[in-house]
Amino acid sequence: MPVPLRHFLRLDDFSRAELEHLFARTRVLKERFKRYELYQPLRDRTLAMVFEKASTRTRVSFEAGMYQMGGSVIHLTTGDSQLSRAEPIEDTARVISRMVDLVMIRTYEQAKIERFAAYSRVPVINGLTNEFHPCQILADVYTFIEHRGPITGKTVAWIGDANNMLYTWLQAARLLGFTVHVSTPPQYAPDPQRVGDAPVRYFDDPHAAAAGADLVTTDVWTSMGFEAENEARRKAFARWCVDASVMEAAKPDALFMHCLPAHRGEEVTAEVLEGPQSVVWDEAENRLHVQKALMEYLLLGHDVS
Ligand code: CP
Ligand code: NVA
Repeated sequence: MPVPLRHFLRLDDFSRAELEHLFARTRVLKERFKRYELYQPLRDRTLAMVFEKASTRTRVSFEAGMYQMGGSVIHLTTGDSQLSRAEPIEDTARVISRMVDLVMIRTYEQAKIERFAAYSRVPVINGLTNEFHPCQILADVYTFIEHRGPITGKTVAWIGDANNMLYTWLQAARLLGFTVHVSTPPQYAPDPQRVGDAPVRYFDDPHAAAAGADLVTTDVWTSMGFEAENEARRKAFARWCVDASVMEAAKPDALFMHCLPAHRGEEVTAEVLEGPQSVVWDEAENRLHVQKALMEYLLLGHDVS
């Protein structure tokens, strides 16, 4: 049976049931990987990865994951493809998607990946845009579940910039039923239109946001593509550092997460990042496992064993 064409451009492209399927499969695939059990259902399948921004984790996890499942990978960047010479994204999409089975893109505007997907014959995965980072939130939620059980009904504290990570957390909160406490500098607050009806509460003080949280999480003050704002942001975000006092305000068993790369001494102290509540290395590793489940789902559907 051919699998219907689906894209993963935003976390809420998938239903709650689909996310739960992915988390269940992630557990199975991770266990197989740890046992060195060969599982290669994607032999003869090819993934093209297009990077218009830098990456360590996303590249390695998709590339290793595809090879582990028996497939092949092609890695393209803006500089070494015709993308830098202004070939229309719609043309690139039509060509690449006739040659490969799956495409992952990391780019700037969400509109660009949507245009690509509209012209693609094969599933397209968002490997980060200015607006969203859905693969990372899959890994983060899975990591929470792995350490603490279901995330439904829990509280996640977001300390820092209203960026692609926060907006994707908000989609997860709506889909999976948890609350997000948000603390940002006032001039970097989330756009209410984009927040919509997500279950969110706002706090001026990061400590107040952390109070009662099961998970405290943050990200860089300046995301890729916004480097020109670096100096202004450094000043504005100085109070939004996850340090020991912020972690003390959270529940005693609260976890700390960061999608990485981290800037120690800016958005998080070295003490917290390296401390006992931090699960950042599990979080990074889980990119591999959740994305294997994602690629399996997009190419083979539910019917896997
Ligand atoms: N967290 C994350 O996406 O890392 P990379 O930028 O290294 O891919
Ligand atoms: N918000 C960060 C995440 C990096 C993985 C960025 O977009 O640069």
